[in-house]
Amino acid sequence: MNSESGCIPEKLSSVFIIFGATGDLTRRKLMSALYNLVSDDLLPKNFVIIAIGRQDKTTDQYREEVLAAIIKYSRNKVDPKIWQKLSSMIIYHKFDFKDLDEYVVLKSFIRKVEKDNCTEGNRVFYLAVAPLYFETIVEGIQKGKLNEDCSGFCRCVIEKPFGKNLETATKLNESILKVFSEKNIYRIDHYLGKDMIQNIMVLRFCNSVFESIWDNKHIDNIQISLTEELGIGSRANYYEQSGAMRDMFQNHIMQIMSLVAMEPPVNLNMDSIRNEKQKVLESIEEISDEFLKKNVIFGQYGEGIIHGEKVSAYRDEENVNHVSETETFVALKMHINNFRWAGVPFYIRTGKRLGTTSGEIIVQFKDLPNTLYYKENRVKQPNLLILHIQPNVGVFFQFNTKDFTTHNDIVPAKMDTSSFIPDQGNTPEAYERLIHDILRGDASLFSRWDEVESAWAIADRIIKYREQMKIDLPNYKAGSMGPQRAFDLIEKDGRNWITV
Ligand SMILES: NC(=O)c1ccc[n+]([C@@H]2O[C@H](COP(=O)([O-])OP(=O)(O)OC[C@H]3O[C@@H](n4cnc5c(N)ncnc54)[C@H](OP(=O)(O)O)[C@@H]3O)[C@@H](O)[C@H]2O)c1
Repeated sequence: MNSESGCIPEKLSSVFIIFGATGDLTRRKLMSALYNLVSDDLLPKNFVIIAIGRQDKTTDQYREEVLAAIIKYSRNKVDPKIWQKLSSMIIYHKFDFKDLDEYVVLKSFIRKVEKDNCTEGNRVFYLAVAPLYFETIVEGIQKGKLNEDCSGFCRCVIEKPFGKNLETATKLNESILKVFSEKNIYRIDHYLGKDMIQNIMVLRFCNSVFESIWDNKHIDNIQISLTEELGIGSRANYYEQSGAMRDMFQNHIMQIMSLVAMEPPVNLNMDSIRNEKQKVLESIEEISDEFLKKNVIFGQYGEGIIHGEKVSAYRDEENVNHVSETETFVALKMHINNFRWAGVPFYIRTGKRLGTTSGEIIVQFKDLPNTLYYKENRVKQPNLLILHIQPNVGVFFQFNTKDFTTHNDIVPAKMDTSSFIPDQGNTPEAYERLIHDILRGDASLFSRWDEVESAWAIADRIIKYREQMKIDLPNYKAGSMGPQRAFDLIEKDGRNWITV
């Protein structure tokens, strides 16, 4: 019992402080995720959300805005009882987070909220703000000593992107480490919150049928393909600085690749998992000039047709420089030089304004010899295991079987557990899992600094090469599947991008 307030805080009772509470991320994802956590009874009884914004508004006004957003974005229909419960947890607080002298006052406010609500002990600082403010806020937290009197935990959640390159990421990390220890830093990669990404480990380590053949003796190649029909919408200011390499490759793709290729961890503790993922990143082949010349293709979309509608070229999008060199597409081939994966190419492609929206991990197994079947020129279909991440979510497996209707034909049979969940990429579900894990103190689905560092070292090398290159852009039509050279990249190895 706390002698001053006379209350007994529950184990996870916390104050959840959102910087950027009037922003798009909070409105579309965080609040709906919190609503669903209340609905699933996964939040502690004593839980307060301090929603920080700089606009003048009352808590009631803010709650109304949140309700409208939840009605629009939540996967669940709003139940007035659940909403009432969440609503009573929310306090709007006007605060200019650039004003470093005011953090002392913010601390007094948090202390009062904690006493009034019996949540003393635990604080989560969620930085849902533009990346240029991450360091400012962390500095304010330090100046106001907001992190110093947590009797339980004080955790800091940092949204993506974590830096713009290795240098800025290192500087940001050093600033945060002055205030929070590594175990209290939660670097968000919302892809890791997706069900199918978590399912990678389950499929591998709960099925002898897969794990026993998960190596270079049995696998021919692995493809990771994250493609989008969408363009950049109103996010030109962000995307012009980012491009596909920083937006998708450095974080989501590097994380997926390490989950697909990692060794079995000794247990499911967060550091055991992250240690194994990190080893994969350390085993990626050296990104030499020779490698870059042969194995990386960049693209930018021109105008085209998607779903029967004409769409603009990237350079004609609002707020995009009309001679922009930003890549909206990248395809590459990489190798992981360790005992398990030596010789197996990993083909990666990601881009915007492509012919389809899909996230897939495709494992193509090696063919058996043709000594028995397929002697005459029949087309042999490979064994394929496909993990559909979005918008189809599930597992697809292809194997060969006799066609019972024709007596002597062999046909591919397709087993598919996938279902179409159109908004998976954009729903708060991933954030539900991630917020719950932050409260529970499980950082397995968050990137540790050494992972971020290794991924930036690889991405930086590729980005620098792209910046020196003169490419004739745009080089693919919106609605196509990227530049012709991305097809040449894989076809010269006698393979194809697999679509099912
Ligand atoms: N939106 C997404 O779907 C998404 C997805 C993945 C990652 N992220 C990341 O999440 C972060 C937030 O993105 P967002 O799209 O939500 O950005 P946003 O819509 O621009 O929101 C930024 C928030 O910061 C507030 N703010 C700015 N300056 C302030 C100040 N001096 N004092 C107090 N509040 C201030 C804004 O308040 P006002 O309302 O007054 O301007 C707004 O609430 C970014 O790092 C982004 O990269 C976003």
